[in-house]
Amino acid sequence: MKFFIDTANLNDIAEAESLGILDGVTTNPSLMAKEKISGDKAVMAHYKKICDITSGDVSAEVISTDFEGMKKEASELIKIADNIVIKIPMIREGVKALAWCTSQGIRTNCTLVFSPGQAILAAKAGATYVSPFVGRIDDIGWDGMQLIEEIAEIYEVQGYETEILAASIRNGKHIIEAARAGADIVTCGLSAFESLLKHPLTDIGLEKFLADHAKAAGK
Ligand code: E4P
Repeated sequence: MKFFIDTANLNDIAEAESLGILDGVTTNPSLMAKEKISGDKAVMAHYKKICDITSGDVSAEVISTDFEGMKKEASELIKIADNIVIKIPMIREGVKALAWCTSQGIRTNCTLVFSPGQAILAAKAGATYVSPFVGRIDDIGWDGMQLIEEIAEIYEVQGYETEILAASIRNGKHIIEAARAGADIVTCGLSAFESLLKHPLTDIGLEKFLADHAKAAGK
């Protein structure tokens, strides 16, 4: 399973990259706004900075909600770097834009997916990635991970090549469950990845190893 970081924060991206396990980056307009990046030029420049940090795929989301607008944005965004992937919402015009991008050889990430039917449409349109939002489904009292399982089963049965990018992943437990459910990728904030690192027995064990080593060396 691949790890993408879900942020527009350059320090967090650089930190994740330095761990040596980063496979890509996802952003969205809310994450850009959180970093106070606004205006077409600034947004494009920020994507360029992200692409300079990582060679993994970087999802850049369109703002337009009409086919022509999405096509125009996709055509501009892909000029930024070879690792840009166009993030397109699962709406009627978005499906058209996904299919158009596929026909042009432009890689895509279909976002805001909340049902198996939407995931089938994304795969039919040739999306490179499909992003089911696990945490937001949990937020309304449903089971986000069940959606990952259902999509994984359908894609396996149908032989779809679209990769399942489990999104809206909020913690380490989500990451582990997504891996078990058949996600190809998870995307989440740096703290969720870091939470996988921690175990009290690791700290206690290391302390003991180092103490024994020091004792044996007569320190
Ligand atoms: C996915 O690409 C989205 O950017 C993201 O995972 C949404 O997560 P949230 O529900 O925590 O905002």
